[in-house]
Amino acid sequence: MVMLNVKRGNSVLPWSIRNKYVLITGATSGIGLAAALRLAKDGARLGIIARNRTRAVECAERIRMESSVHHAQIDIFIADMGSLHSVRQVAGEILEACPHIDVLVNNAGAFYDQRHSSEDKFEMTWAVNHLGPFLLTTLLLDRLQENREARIIFTSSHGHKMARDGIGYDDLDGRRLYSPFKRLLGGANLRYGETKLANLLLTVELAKRLQGTGVTANCFDPGLVSTGFNMNNGALARMTMACMKPFSRTPEKGAETLVWLAESVELTGQSGNYYKDLKLGTSSRAAQDSESAAHLWEISEKQIRAAFSK
Ligand SMILES: NC(=O)c1ccc[n+]([C@@H]2O[C@H](COP(=O)([O-])OP(=O)(O)OC[C@H]3O[C@@H](n4cnc5c(N)ncnc54)[C@H](OP(=O)(O)O)[C@@H]3O)[C@@H](O)[C@H]2O)c1
Repeated sequence: MVMLNVKRGNSVLPWSIRNKYVLITGATSGIGLAAALRLAKDGARLGIIARNRTRAVECAERIRMESSVHHAQIDIFIADMGSLHSVRQVAGEILEACPHIDVLVNNAGAFYDQRHSSEDKFEMTWAVNHLGPFLLTTLLLDRLQENREARIIFTSSHGHKMARDGIGYDDLDGRRLYSPFKRLLGGANLRYGETKLANLLLTVELAKRLQGTGVTANCFDPGLVSTGFNMNNGALARMTMACMKPFSRTPEKGAETLVWLAESVELTGQSGNYYKDLKLGTSSRAAQDSESAAHLWEISEKQIRAAFSK
């Protein structure tokens, strides 16, 4: 395991989360909320990126109360991760407000049973789970690189293995996947799996591009966690999630590897990896395809350029 130390003036300090600035998406519920609470307890300063201000304010209050850190710094930034314009705007606000970003956690995500179009006319799962986080990360990369050490973390999923054959680049729009016939065969699940595979491939490509900068990128699988996940897909989906609850982890357990990736000193310098339960996990073959990772980066840039040129 590679151990690097962080230089501060003349002293060399090992990584510690105390007073580090952690930006996190999806902290208003589930895994993100549990992680934010733990990180605040452990002394991190937080920037929460949420789509709903009321929920974000309530969540910040809850974190202050439950962490017993009543003075905890929790900045609130508002963005819909499914809207590229919203993500670009919030990145500008963050760059204005935050002179240092030590950790960026791309955790917000969703599953859509039916096909929805994002504001920028992309299929919604792709927009929220991949394109939004891709744009946010690339817009904040320079600021992250101003530190001697910084960490980027993605909440991926075991579900990436559903996309066994990789990402269907010829159907990024999801029209085929969400066609009535494909939906019956689990097209919506496959789309979700593709976006979680995209989290892994982006981790691989970021690690390559950031080699030697002190900024690392890693992702993890939280396991099956009882959260608000899939509650947006009607009564049947809510019933299914209720039935799965006895077999699911608590959000705190689901957040354990995220917190470890943010805090652990042993992970200094480790990059491009997929973790599960506080150790390296086994990702699919498609997730280790560096050509696909490079292609995904190009395609994502192209989609974003197209959206902003409209
Ligand atoms: N639960 C599981 O079993 C499981 C397993 C593997 C991976 N994951 C991944 O874990 C991550 C967190 O999910 P969770 O299980 O904690 O579910 P959750 O309780 O539904 O939390 C999802 C979070 O993402 C936010 N979010 C969703 N869409 C957004 C958008 N368009 N813009 C901004 N924020 C948005 C939600 O905000 P609101 O509060 O406004 O809705 C919420 O804070 C996701 O990436 C998911 O894919 C979950």
